[in-house]
Amino acid sequence: MRILFIGDIVGGPGRRGLAHVLPRLREELEPDLVIANGENAAGGVGITERTADEIFAAGVEMITTGNHVYRHRDAYEFIDRCERLVRPANYPKGNPGRGSAVVDVGGTSVGILNLSGELQLTVARSPFPTADAELGELKRRGAEIVFVDFHAEVTSEKVAMGWHLDGRVAAIVGTHTHVPTADARVLPGGTAFISDVGMTGSRDSVLGVQVEDALGRFVTQMPARFRTAEENVWINAVAIDMGADGKAERIEQILRPAD
Ligand code: FE2
Repeated sequence: MRILFIGDIVGGPGRRGLAHVLPRLREELEPDLVIANGENAAGGVGITERTADEIFAAGVEMITTGNHVYRHRDAYEFIDRCERLVRPANYPKGNPGRGSAVVDVGGTSVGILNLSGELQLTVARSPFPTADAELGELKRRGAEIVFVDFHAEVTSEKVAMGWHLDGRVAAIVGTHTHVPTADARVLPGGTAFISDVGMTGSRDSVLGVQVEDALGRFVTQMPARFRTAEENVWINAVAIDMGADGKAERIEQILRPAD
């Protein structure tokens, strides 16, 4: 089974770039399941039903999220209802949405788990014991292969989570920083890992924000409105191959212009 995972889709430019390049990527890589992080899909921050539908229409089957998932209040009902979208499992239990999902991929049950780091981000519970509990729950629900999106800021926490889950999940990929890392590999226990997949958005930007806006804030230390950058959109993704035993065989990084 091959899973294609696409890093944080940033705003309209990210969504349009994805819609443009994904049909070609699907043809080339023939993934069995396409997952994308959509937490920056709506105007660069958060997600709405309309932007999620656009991502699904582009060819994504499951959406993961992170710290901005609740930015748009009118999306709460959608987040709660949509079975193809997950939000971090270590958020307060009563919050809209679900932390994990089980989907059928050609007769194989795939568990998809979303977790948030606790360093420099706000969570209700540590991601480590939450991961243990959620893995037990996914197994009870019949998941044969588990994929984890760990939305986290700090590299050491992500690498530690990789070791925590090595041999217990098929893949754990990091998201949130929008900068792809060069450490993609299969860990000794058979778990595909990367600290951060990167983003699908403008490369001529500061993490997807117009250079002028973000740089201006650093230089002047004055508040600034952040507009989503549009130029030179790239797709940052990984393709992960796994066997029937639920272990990864390889992970390949995909970084390319969206046009
Ligand atoms: Fe984030």
